[in-house]
Amino acid sequence: MVKHAEATEVWVGLTTEEDETVLTVRDNGTGFDPRIVLRRLREGHIGLASHYMRVESAGGRFLIDSSPGAGTTVEVRLPTAAGEEESPEQAPVVP
Ligand SMILES: Nc1ncnc2c1ncn2[C@@H]1O[C@H](COP(=O)(O)OP(=O)(O)OP(=O)(O)O)[C@@H](O)[C@H]1O
Ligand SMILES: [Mg+2]
Repeated sequence: MVKHAEATEVWVGLTTEEDETVLTVRDNGTGFDPRIVLRRLREGHIGLASHYMRVESAGGRFLIDSSPGAGTTVEVRLPTAAGEEESPEQAPVVP
């Protein structure tokens, strides 16, 4: 956000809902077309794409709401009990 958004204000919120922890980061900066993220990834820039993958692979949701001129909101939703339902099988203990 510092690098791209030219924002003058950033809001950060952290709340828990029934079974999710929700992090919201919003700026009043330039905004962008979220499709840019895929383009940048193909050019070797893994910034937002790496955050997206990390959250989604933990069973969460990584949502970008942005458009040029309208600022950016990123919402990260992670299941509070992450790991209990979707954790990979434990490696067998070899005696
Ligand atoms: N908060 C934001 N406000 C405006 N534009 C943004 C914001 N966050 C990202 N962008 C736009 O999305 C593009 C992709 O961001 P991303 O973090 O994936 O890659 P990058 O910052 O270009 O490269 P890297 O993070 O690898 O150094 C950026 O180039 C920028 O154009
Ligand atoms: Mg970046």
